[in-house]
Amino acid sequence: MTRILVLNGPNLSRLGTREPDVYGSTTWADLVSLLESAAQTGEEVVVRQSNDEAELIGWLHEAVDTKSEVVFNPAAFTHYSYAIRDAVAIVTSAGLPVLEVHISNPHAREEFRHTSVISGVATGVIAGFGTDSYLLALDALRRRRA
Ligand code: DQA
Repeated sequence: MTRILVLNGPNLSRLGTREPDVYGSTTWADLVSLLESAAQTGEEVVVRQSNDEAELIGWLHEAVDTKSEVVFNPAAFTHYSYAIRDAVAIVTSAGLPVLEVHISNPHAREEFRHTSVISGVATGVIAGFGTDSYLLALDALRRRRA
């Protein structure tokens, strides 16, 4: 059984009503059920969201302890959290993939979003495909595993 943790940072629980012109109309509840039901045979997909840096770091540590693969939208922490970067590096240096995902394309937005302190330690980055970014990440994990 492959366990996939889909971790989400601050404000993503507001999907559906948060800046729909940027993030679309899919609600957080819709996204959770879409991802849970996207689990294929032999996979367990666990979706979580937190506004709290410490909680996200704890979940990344848990990924190492439970040998889970990770799909991670760090949201605004992407742009400045060295603590989260270090926690991602712990996961990837343990040989487990962490795919950084974004709903929007941060490079097409404000300048401060052009920097990701996470990408340099992530396995790969998928951005700009709306909530499909998560589904593409699940697929990328499968292709990598095959
Ligand atoms: C985001 C992009 C970030 O810049 C932003 O802070 C978010 C969401 C995205 O999914 O497009 O909260 O990670």
